[in-house]
Amino acid sequence: MSAEKEEQDAGTRELQYVQYDGSQEATYLPAIRQLISKDLSEPYSIYVYRYFLYQWGDLCYMALDPSTNALIGVVVCKLEPHRSGTFRGYIAMLAVQEAHRGRGIATKLVCMAIDAMAARDADEIVLETEVSNTASLKLYERLGFLRSKRLHRYYLNGNAAFRLVLYLKKGTAGKRPEDAGGGSGMRMEEYRGYGAPPGQESVMMGPVS
Ligand SMILES: CC(C)(COP(=O)(O)OP(=O)(O)OC[C@H]1O[C@@H](n2cnc3c(N)ncnc32)[C@H](O)[C@@H]1OP(=O)(O)O)[C@@H](O)C(=O)NCCC(=O)NCCS
Repeated sequence: MSAEKEEQDAGTRELQYVQYDGSQEATYLPAIRQLISKDLSEPYSIYVYRYFLYQWGDLCYMALDPSTNALIGVVVCKLEPHRSGTFRGYIAMLAVQEAHRGRGIATKLVCMAIDAMAARDADEIVLETEVSNTASLKLYERLGFLRSKRLHRYYLNGNAAFRLVLYLKKGTAGKRPEDAGGGSGMRMEEYRGYGAPPGQESVMMGPVS
């Protein structure tokens, strides 16, 4: 079957939504990297993916084509205490294959991630997105995320970002003065292209595929 026909068929099939399974890194990590790096001006190193997936693989959800097992969409997150005192979820990466966009796949993946973080007692969930990323802003704002800050020249290409926040518990906004700091503790841009994030070298061992 031609690649184009396969893509069309996948578009009409029910997708399978699954949690990332670390024991299948060899199967899924290359596909995740490929899907996410397609839309980035500079790719993240393998260590960045491992930083998230080794520690918070259970907060990564994938949309798969059930007949080919091809990766159609993915969301990658983390959840940890933030210095402002909140237990903060962070949506680090989200992408859906271009041919499958506009059908609610990203919305479903983000909802699964939000539910998982809420079940683990997150106070809030934050992320950054480019100010010109209409699809992403529409998706998140429809789910209740609010614009908390505009980050001037946030990306390496000089573009600005909005920080978006979803408060999961009453009173969280008051706990988090705006200058209490960044979304993830470290800007996603700072992960890009470098080795293991500081302090995370020990979890980055393993073959670089
Ligand atoms: C952002 C992205 C993940 C959305 O995936 P998706 O599966 O198409 O998302 P959904 O179908 O769940 O919802 C997208 C929403 O944006 C809207 N949308 C999509 N493309 C749009 C565009 N070019 N302009 C305006 N709105 C757009 C859709 O209509 C939908 O809103 P609606 O349900 O209110 O109509 C996808 O476009 C993508 O992978 N982009 C590249 C990577 C990226 O930008 N990731 C986000 C970084 S924070």
